[in-house]
Amino acid sequence: MSQVTERLDPDDAGLARAAQLLAQGQLVAFPTETVYGLGADARQGEAVAHIFEAKGRPRFNPLIVHVADFEAAQQIGRFNADAAALADAFWPGPLTLVVPLRDDAGLSDLVTAGLQTVGIRVPAGAVSQALLNGFGGPVAAPSANPSGKVSPTEAAHVLDGLDGRIAAVVDGGAAKVGVESTIVGAFDHPRLLRPGGLPAEAIEDALGRPLAHAPAGPTPNAPGQLASHYAPNAPLRLNVTHPRSGERLLGFGPAAERATLNLSPSGDLVEAAANLFAFLRRIDGPSPIAVSPIPDHGLGRAINDRLVRAAAPRN
Ligand code: TXA
Ligand code: MG
Repeated sequence: MSQVTERLDPDDAGLARAAQLLAQGQLVAFPTETVYGLGADARQGEAVAHIFEAKGRPRFNPLIVHVADFEAAQQIGRFNADAAALADAFWPGPLTLVVPLRDDAGLSDLVTAGLQTVGIRVPAGAVSQALLNGFGGPVAAPSANPSGKVSPTEAAHVLDGLDGRIAAVVDGGAAKVGVESTIVGAFDHPRLLRPGGLPAEAIEDALGRPLAHAPAGPTPNAPGQLASHYAPNAPLRLNVTHPRSGERLLGFGPAAERATLNLSPSGDLVEAAANLFAFLRRIDGPSPIAVSPIPDHGLGRAINDRLVRAAAPRN
């Protein structure tokens, strides 16, 4: 599949073109507050199949459905009291809720990978909101990168991996949050399926009780179970305070004086999350990469989750 990928501005004309392409069953990459998504009309099976083809993605991963608001979400999934409370507290925002799929949702089976559950998200940010409102339907969208590679936080990153393989990209500038949404399974007891851009602590505060954690096991129900993911080309070594000669240091905090790039010289986890994927791209090259220790709380849990996967043995 080779085509000319249109670069669209996030103005009325660009967003109208993006909505038109989606309606025609084409793939359109667009900015959300977390990362850029590779969108397709979630009701059109062939369009959704093209997502997997363009990304070279393993099929067992279900996709997140993006909608403009809670009302649209309720036409796709069933929300119990916890799910409704979390939607109310955090949407629009970097939270995906996995809930039971409605029989009349009308989604392609490929979106849910044949499951009776569905991951739904209402993204924040003017561009994604305008696009979803203009299109008026559910948009299935994984991150807009080839499978297993670093997620894109700028339109140029999308084109690095997918130019010529998708119909268009809407350029909305740099994604603010920089890591993917936090995924919570909202069934009997709310469960953290993937740490992400919304700290788990904030979710527990809103619920008034702790989240359960994803069971360890062979079933890949979140990218946490895929060994090597989000990977740059160079090998990665984590929790490094003293880099070896020849290593480039991806630093964090004031102690990382010799860093080639520092995710946040002041030690701010929000800044580090926003920089993570762009810096992994910039520092990638022939030399191995060492990474400073990152505190494992708040957004640090999402950052460490991505780094562990990026450092995992490749297949
Ligand atoms: O921030 C984000 O979440 C970005 C932007 C584009 O919205 N999207 C994203 O999508 O990260 P993706 O496809 O890379 O991650 C989707 C993950 C799947 O790997 C899967 O683990 C989980 O969401 N998921 C989706 N539906 C699910 C379901 N029914 N049950 C369990 N997990 C589900
Ligand atoms: Mg991804």
